Amino acid sequence: MTSLKNTNKLSLLLIFSCSCLLSIANAGSFYQDFDITWGDGRGKIVNNGQLLSLSLDKTSGSGFQSKHEYLFGKIDMQLKLVPGNSAGTVTAYYLSSQGPTHDEIDYEFLGNLSGDPYTLHTNVFTQGKGNREMQFKLWFDPTKDFHTYSILWNPRHVIFMVDNVPLRDYKNLEAKGISFPKNQPMRIYSSLWNADDWATRGGLVKTDWSQAPFTASYRNFNANACVWSLGSAKCPPLQTNVAGDNWFNQELDSTSQARMRWVQRNYMVYNYCTDGKRFPQGLPPECNIH
Ligand SMILES: *[C@@H]1O[C@H](CO)[C@@H](O)[C@H](O)[C@H]1NC(C)=O
Repeated sequence: MTSLKNTNKLSLLLIFSCSCLLSIANAGSFYQDFDITWGDGRGKIVNNGQLLSLSLDKTSGSGFQSKHEYLFGKIDMQLKLVPGNSAGTVTAYYLSSQGPTHDEIDYEFLGNLSGDPYTLHTNVFTQGKGNREMQFKLWFDPTKDFHTYSILWNPRHVIFMVDNVPLRDYKNLEAKGISFPKNQPMRIYSSLWNADDWATRGGLVKTDWSQAPFTASYRNFNANACVWSLGSAKCPPLQTNVAGDNWFNQELDSTSQARMRWVQRNYMVYNYCTDGKRFPQGLPPECNIH
């Protein structure tokens, strides 16, 4: 659906050693790619490694993280979110490096009362600084079925895509003095937790514990990604399609850009780049470059 265009194939490839021996995580199992890291049994891998679920009750949430760190990749995961009255719950799914100047690429799904829409919150941190929130409603009910949430992270773009429809495109504008996540390897994390002090209508709607446990499910993880190992990134062989595209040089072509504008026009509910009140000294610099 999203056709992505090929530019500058050669650029930056050179800095990577393509150790083509390492074959990456395609259609692997959750046992192979992830560890449940907290929640005392509330996170589970079942169906022979094909399904992972997290749950939350009054005592605790739960979470998992990838075994590998990655430096660039096209990372797809299917999620099915907490159904029914999920107000107060947050399902976070993100990439993050470590330390005070960390980079981070975030999806957070803010639950809601039955029948009221989830908010999909996104953010990009570079060098420890975020404040780049964009929030969306979805064009489907994310609790009924699994949908694919993707992060395309290459040296020029961080693109958030839902079922292959692009929501936002954080571009590499280092030439204009704006930082871009490209030196710190990141791990994949996810957690389900209680955030009823802020998540739903700004904290007005509290978690209804009589509905607990709350459960979110994950399947079909697919990472076409460079795995960080011993100080360098080992990329899988780039599979170039008939149009000459691969994830490492993908960017949005005009059709995809039009789809992204459609999403932003119809489903975006918050954009830091238009929040003049929040930035009285002027909007962040990337907001003024197109
Ligand atoms: C929940 O639904 C209400 C009513 O439609 C909406 O105002 C709010 O933004 C929704 N999302 C959250 C996370 O509160």
